[in-house]
Amino acid sequence: MKVVRTIAECRAARREFSALGFVPTMGAFHEGHLSLMRAAKAACGSCAVSLFVNPLQFAPTDDLAKYPRQHEQDFAMAESVGVDLMFVPDPTELTQNIQTTVAVSGVSALYEGERRPGHFEGVATIVAKLFGIVQPDIAFFGLKDLQQCAVIRRMVSDLNMPLSLRFEETVREPSGLAMSSRNQYFSPAQKVEASELYRVLVQTADTLAKGVSHSNSNVNPVLKAATGTLKDLGFGVEYLDAVDPNTMLPITHIDEDSRLVVAAKFHTVRLIDNIPVFKNS
Ligand code: PAF
Repeated sequence: MKVVRTIAECRAARREFSALGFVPTMGAFHEGHLSLMRAAKAACGSCAVSLFVNPLQFAPTDDLAKYPRQHEQDFAMAESVGVDLMFVPDPTELTQNIQTTVAVSGVSALYEGERRPGHFEGVATIVAKLFGIVQPDIAFFGLKDLQQCAVIRRMVSDLNMPLSLRFEETVREPSGLAMSSRNQYFSPAQKVEASELYRVLVQTADTLAKGVSHSNSNVNPVLKAATGTLKDLGFGVEYLDAVDPNTMLPITHIDEDSRLVVAAKFHTVRLIDNIPVFKNS
């Protein structure tokens, strides 16, 4: 695995590959990242990964400095799944003094966009820059960040960027808890309790899917009951909704693309998760 740190080095290294899959990351790898890297390698034969804790997507109140950084461990994990190129840009070169940003309106408006102003503009800007530098054929993203996937899909389409996108389902702990770098803030017992979030999501999706098959697809009472259950279990629910994953707008009637999205605080950790309402969609 070649590790490069400057834009010029990355561009030169990219020329050594024909088809290239790309996984942009902020490091602190877990099985979710590794499964994206394996998918990129399998689809394209070569895989590039970027590791950059992007200051543009953190609000001044978010603790950018506290974001876990473990480069040596990350490099070893990436190497173990056959990553060919690791780009670890310098923040000074990549983000200082830029005067251009990419704002994807509409899909960024609600949910995470509403609660984290500027977040998706920071994500879209850095991802656009990384696409321009790495020039991948296919870029891979995890559906755990459903709204991020919608923002990037829209950006690539609106700006006619010459690459394909693949979105991969969330990788979960055996308990069902979605893999996340933030899970390391939980004690082992809290981690098990936190998996109740997934259990309630699955139960809610089942109820909604059954409702559709009985011609009753009105979602609101079901979502209200599920929010109550989560609150009783100690989750500080910020939102629980059924959405169209392309527009990231709430829906009142379920169809085969619909997904449930949730954000909730458990102890001090803010969790987000989402699942399809229908298991095979
Ligand atoms: O999902 C992430 O880790 C980040 O938002 C991304 C896509 C690497 C952009 O900084």
